[in-house]
Amino acid sequence: MKKIVVLTGAGMSAQSGISTFRDSGGLWENHPVRQVASVEGWYSDPKLMLSFYNQRRTDLKKAKPNKGHLILAGLEQFFDIGIVTQNVDDLHERAGSTRILHLHGELTKARSSENPDLITEIGYEPVHWGDKAADGTQLRPHIVWFGEPVPEMSKAIQWTREAEIMIVVGTSLAVYPAAGLIDYASGNTPLFLIDPKPAPVRRNHLHTITEKAVEGLEKLEKILIDNYL
Ligand code: OAD
Repeated sequence: MKKIVVLTGAGMSAQSGISTFRDSGGLWENHPVRQVASVEGWYSDPKLMLSFYNQRRTDLKKAKPNKGHLILAGLEQFFDIGIVTQNVDDLHERAGSTRILHLHGELTKARSSENPDLITEIGYEPVHWGDKAADGTQLRPHIVWFGEPVPEMSKAIQWTREAEIMIVVGTSLAVYPAAGLIDYASGNTPLFLIDPKPAPVRRNHLHTITEKAVEGLEKLEKILIDNYL
């Protein structure tokens, strides 16, 4: 089976009703990034941050994987697929994909505010101020905030280096180190970029599909099965 690595961003889940960040009407328009997605935000107003992620969890509970998530899961019959997602939702898992790295954390988990390895499953339940981790510290969302390391990055680089095909779906490629992953794909690796407003990527063997995730993946599924099996 050919190895495929897929880098997904917020646009992957947009057709499931989850807001992107930087599009007009996106999450960062009404919620300043510094307040809700940075380490400083956590120190200055942790209750606001908890309530922001509680709302994201409530929204996620109502959302369903879209056809694009299902196509990626179905392609595991034909290819060895690793999904590297910047998304903190669980829609790839719910669609049935089995090899997933969450670069920016997961909404359905919380962790100790002092020990990043002390992680608990919380599902779609809220985290309140005063809820404690097993080590007695305040529980915090298991999200990688600006200013924090990205622990899954080295595995993501390894998957990308090994990939024979790379697919990038629904990301502005504005946030590093995630955006830098495409530079680890070998120069001969075909790169399929699906986005209605694709980020400016320059490289050989680039195939841009200027579509939303569902429609783009419907086209790409056929291309992969016809040409790369
Ligand atoms: P952005 O909001 O920056 O970019 C979303 C991308 O999705 C844009 O390129 C849109 O054109 C595209 N898009 C919109 N609707 C789409 C659709 N239906 N189908 C496909 N693409 C669509 O989101 P990300 O690139 O994921 O990090 O943002 C990266 C990181 O920035 C996030 O993980 C988050 C944020 O700050 C953290 O919170 C740590």
